[in-house]
Amino acid sequence: MAIQLTETKDLTRQETYELVITQVKHLVSDESNLVANLANVSSLLKNTFEDYLWVGFYVADPDSPEELVLGPFQGRPACTRIKFGKGVCGTSASLKQTIIVDDVDQFPGHIVCDSLSKSEIVVPIIFNGNVRAVLDVDSDRLSNFNQTDSRYLEELVNILTPLF
Ligand code: SME
Repeated sequence: MAIQLTETKDLTRQETYELVITQVKHLVSDESNLVANLANVSSLLKNTFEDYLWVGFYVADPDSPEELVLGPFQGRPACTRIKFGKGVCGTSASLKQTIIVDDVDQFPGHIVCDSLSKSEIVVPIIFNGNVRAVLDVDSDRLSNFNQTDSRYLEELVNILTPLF
């Protein structure tokens, strides 16, 4: 079943995230396929938040230890492989922590996929103690992400974790 995009321009960011989380719960309850769900969640986020430049998942590659490979996303084409410890995504995977970067030019080793990207948040998806993927969101605005984003995006990936 498809999810209808809702008009969110009169909602606060917090209210918008709460609506998105409700929609993600519906998506996951209707479909158990991982790729289908990651694809729809990427689309839902990209089409809901106008300040999201790029949103998508990098998934731990079972055939290549400590390496992330590009998964479902929305936005311009991106680099396909990121080693754990490299860039914002690989650092988040290594540390098993959400990372907020206010200015990507100030993050040592930041991997440029789109020169329009100015700030970024990466949330790891951890199952049984292992990093299975990261959710990566880029914005074309500096300092676009804060604790509200990390709180709700962490709640969102917790809904996805059992699919991995
Ligand atoms: N900037 C990321 C790479 C992925 S793209 O932003 C889509 C990083 O430094 O890990």
